Amino acid sequence: MKIEDCMEDFQIPRYLHYMDSAATSLIPEPVIASMNEYDRHYRANVGRGMHRLTRVATQRYQDAHDSVSSFVGGKEGTTVFTRNTTEAINMVAAGLDWQPGDRVVTTIAEHHSNLLPWLRLRQKGVEVVILQPGPGGIFAARSFDEAVTVDTKLVAVSHVSNVLGTVQPVREIAAICKERGAHFLVDGAQSVPHFSVNAQDMGCDFLCFSGHKMLGPTGTGVLWMKDAVISPFMVGGGMIDDIDAEGDTVEGYSLAAGYKRYEAGTPNISGAIGLGQAVKYLESLGMDAIFRHEQKLTERFLAGLSGIDNVTVYGPEDLKNRIGVISFNIGKIHPHEIAYLLDERAAILVRSGDHCCIPLMRHLGLENGTVRASLYLYNTLEEVDLLIETVEEIARMV
Ligand code: ALA
Repeated sequence: MKIEDCMEDFQIPRYLHYMDSAATSLIPEPVIASMNEYDRHYRANVGRGMHRLTRVATQRYQDAHDSVSSFVGGKEGTTVFTRNTTEAINMVAAGLDWQPGDRVVTTIAEHHSNLLPWLRLRQKGVEVVILQPGPGGIFAARSFDEAVTVDTKLVAVSHVSNVLGTVQPVREIAAICKERGAHFLVDGAQSVPHFSVNAQDMGCDFLCFSGHKMLGPTGTGVLWMKDAVISPFMVGGGMIDDIDAEGDTVEGYSLAAGYKRYEAGTPNISGAIGLGQAVKYLESLGMDAIFRHEQKLTERFLAGLSGIDNVTVYGPEDLKNRIGVISFNIGKIHPHEIAYLLDERAAILVRSGDHCCIPLMRHLGLENGTVRASLYLYNTLEEVDLLIETVEEIARMV
């Protein structure tokens, strides 16, 4: 399928220009249909019985895991379904065996979801080191080389910044982590939806991402692990192999293999099926074609902004090491006011504020944050031109 042909699958009214996909993406009709089909025609629990509906549901639930793991080149690892990226990262923070003196290395550009779980470990005597970026918001592999000591248990980095759109050098960081024996966690929330990401080739140990930012339903996310080294964060139904019970005594339990040990309780079955369908949809368009399309839009937008007085763009000003998540400000106008004006004047929908990245905002000296336009496969050059024209109009008010 060609990208131009998929517009009909997104039923948002045509007069709205949705440019907030970094917060959550739109969802195409085939994904909605796959979830409706489950609820209408084969709704049953999974992995818990032998009747015909549960057999179909269990197979589709397993198929969704298979589709998602092959989408990120992760067939050799364990692909656990979670509620979102935040839950996936917290599962790693809660599931590793931390000792006082262990070290975590992360960056100032992280979303709170990839910062707070590590900061909380300070209560256990874990040292948390926060790196500062170089020009344009890029972190040099060299700074990891200096910071990642042999005491470092884990390095946690966003593949793509949700504010600056910067793509970080994850392969180089992975090589450093491997050499020092540190686990490497990549927050792929803003990368996996937009270009081809192969967890195994990248060399990470954990890859976390959200289904709702990649055409899937809300309440879906993924924790991919190279090796299933963490303890499960929740225990209960569906995640054990056996319970050690004799007569009236119950001693302990043994955990199920694979993803099941991390998915206690009835999962979000319809969400998982929708996420599996979202991945198939992205694959039918091709991740390289999606990336090229978004690069075209980003180039046009950056070029347009560069010609407008009073506009400041944050992050790289060209296409090198960046994707279509573009933060900017217009003079001293409050970012919320700009977002409101973009909606009122042209029905352009963007996010404004701190983007759950307060430390980065403080680092950039931005009291009120930025306006952020985040583009996806369903955006067009005409919409980007409208955004440029409307920004120009607002800039004239300064
Ligand atoms: N993480 C999402 C964003 O950046 C919610 O908007």
